[in-house]
Amino acid sequence: MSPAVKIGLIGCGRIAQLVHLDVLRRLPGAELVALADVDPRRRREASRRVPGTAAFADYHELLARPEVEAVVICLPHALHAEAAIAALQQGKHVYLEKPLATNLDDARRVLSAWRDTGVVGMIGFNYRFNALYQTVKQYIQEGKLGELVSVRSVFSAAPRALPAWKQQRQSGGGALLDLALHHIDLVRFVFEQEVCEVFAQLRSQRSEDDSAVLHLRLVDGLLVQSFFSLSAIEEDRFELYGTAGKLAVDRHRSFNVEITDPACAHRARLGRLGRRMWAALRGPYLWDKLLAPRREPSYRAALLQFVTAVRTNLAVRPNFQDGYRSLAVVAAAEQSARTGRMVALTGLGEEDSGGRAQTVRA
Ligand SMILES: NC(=O)c1ccc[n+]([C@@H]2O[C@H](COP(=O)([O-])OP(=O)(O)OC[C@H]3O[C@@H](n4cnc5c(N)ncnc54)[C@H](O)[C@@H]3O)[C@@H](O)[C@H]2O)c1
Repeated sequence: MSPAVKIGLIGCGRIAQLVHLDVLRRLPGAELVALADVDPRRRREASRRVPGTAAFADYHELLARPEVEAVVICLPHALHAEAAIAALQQGKHVYLEKPLATNLDDARRVLSAWRDTGVVGMIGFNYRFNALYQTVKQYIQEGKLGELVSVRSVFSAAPRALPAWKQQRQSGGGALLDLALHHIDLVRFVFEQEVCEVFAQLRSQRSEDDSAVLHLRLVDGLLVQSFFSLSAIEEDRFELYGTAGKLAVDRHRSFNVEITDPACAHRARLGRLGRRMWAALRGPYLWDKLLAPRREPSYRAALLQFVTAVRTNLAVRPNFQDGYRSLAVVAAAEQSARTGRMVALTGLGEEDSGGRAQTVRA
């Protein structure tokens, strides 16, 4: 493998201070060499935590540094496309926090800047790397739930003061871009299928579009019903119903996935739960979780995958196309919320020519 990848961090705000700085300064195969943030307080705080890094107010100066091989972008959503394109034009590998962009036109500009560059373009759908969701995927592949019938999910965050850009949709705010994108990606990841129909409703209480309800239909007919909110409790939950059982997982509260058989055999279930808890306590996931920044091991795992892909020149998922496809579902959801109608996603797989959304029925 090549020597450590020299990384620049663009955007040293809340998540970078909570997660990325700690992860990147300890990540094997990576060396954090430069930081950029327009806010001098955040820049100073980041420099204090990783002494010896070059610090810039303007990220273009960071991108002009030849020693920076790769960048991790943690900017407000409306700046994602512009920053990713600037980094790609300088030949840098890019790890871009979600979303790829705030609209599909900008997202297509990112894809076209990335196409044929040969650099890594990874999107920050880190939860794919959480062991719980990887177990869910494995159980589905093994057919443990029989034939799948339906899926319910919730991703909500406790109310907190949001930065101004997160309060308006135009600057990238709202539950769809912040939270729903993660579950849309997980649905694509776990079931290995695309979303073909979307119905959505939005509600603005504390900030614009801070809650959303989504109904998705996947290509094979599976129905997914989801609730997202920036103004409720901390919950990140999936429930999968099949003919042979139900599987439930809550990223904040579970040590393992919980399977309920269709007959609700309580005693057997409790026994299995006890054995699973015991296995979890002895297993690596609990300890990874306790030791991880924000108690979430997938941030580190995703960034390690990015660095490994850069060093080994291997293709990586989730990539910018995954970012585009999930964003297309959000665009369809917004169209549905505006029109009150179901929206079909057509032209899947044709990102460059525009994978279109089409209103189909009330
Ligand atoms: N994957 C996850 O689970 C997860 C969790 C939280 C946040 N995020 C993502 O991380 C990103 C940042 O979110 P946040 O909550 O840290 O936001 P934030 O507002 O706290 O941080 C953004 C930072 O960017 C800086 N900035 C603004 N304009 C700039 C510019 N032109 N040049 C340089 N710096 C600039 C701001 O000063 C701020 O420090 C978003 O994309 C968000 O979706 C992802």
